[in-house]
Amino acid sequence: MEIRQLFIGESPPLHLLLLADPSKEMVEDYLGKGICFVAERDKQILGVYVLLQKGTDMMEIKNIAVDEKHHGKGIGRQLIGHAIGYAREQGYKLMEIGTGNSSIGQLALYQKCGFRIVGVDRDFFTKHYSEALYENGIQCRDMVRLSRNI
Ligand code: ACO
Ligand code: ACO
Repeated sequence: MEIRQLFIGESPPLHLLLLADPSKEMVEDYLGKGICFVAERDKQILGVYVLLQKGTDMMEIKNIAVDEKHHGKGIGRQLIGHAIGYAREQGYKLMEIGTGNSSIGQLALYQKCGFRIVGVDRDFFTKHYSEALYENGIQCRDMVRLSRNI
């Protein structure tokens, strides 16, 4: 599997990006500002992530998603490792990632990748999304922010 930046003119895998963030407007907004990487095997896109600069020494993984048929095979972990390696090479010192209070698996994954909770953006999802979101039987209301040194 190869992890690479999108080629110039190549369309980002919107169907995957929307798994991580149901707002097309938000996805298009940060795609315009950030760098999009894809994981590819045999010409098939299996995963994606978008990195955005946030301040002078920090980058944020704004969106990360893996094709549902390939969940649980370590691709998400590899994408996070790649994002950390890329940002470190560019001289950044911190990586941030945010996810919903209801995203139990994602919170597990990010902590296994060395991220620690640094804050909670209360009502982020109720303020910025028109429809109520549910996961694991829990309403997604708050954004949990995590970060780690890189
Ligand atoms: N409890 C404990 N650990 C858990 C749980 C849980 N409930 N759920 C998952 N995990 C762990 C797994 O055990 C595994 O850890 P391990 O490597 O120690 O076994 C890890 O989390 C999952 O690792 P991967 O297999 O590398 O992850 P995957 O390739 O499935 O990708 C991802 C994870 C990207 C979150 C995928 O599930 C996905 O695309 N989900 C839909 C989109 C999404 O929610 N994206 C994130 C939104 S937040 C954001 O974009 C910033
Ligand atoms: N993802 C989604 N939902 C989950 C998960 C998960 N990984 N794990 C549990 N749940 C949900 C279950 O689905 C269930 O919800 P539901 O009723 O909608 O199906 C709920 O959590 C569990 O409910 P109960 O069956 O009522 O809980 P239980 O009788 O098992 O008691 C308790 C829970 C007290 C935490 C028990 O597991 C326990 O004693 N654990 C060891 C001690 C402990 O950790 N205590 C809490 C420490 S913090 C404190 O004390 C303040």
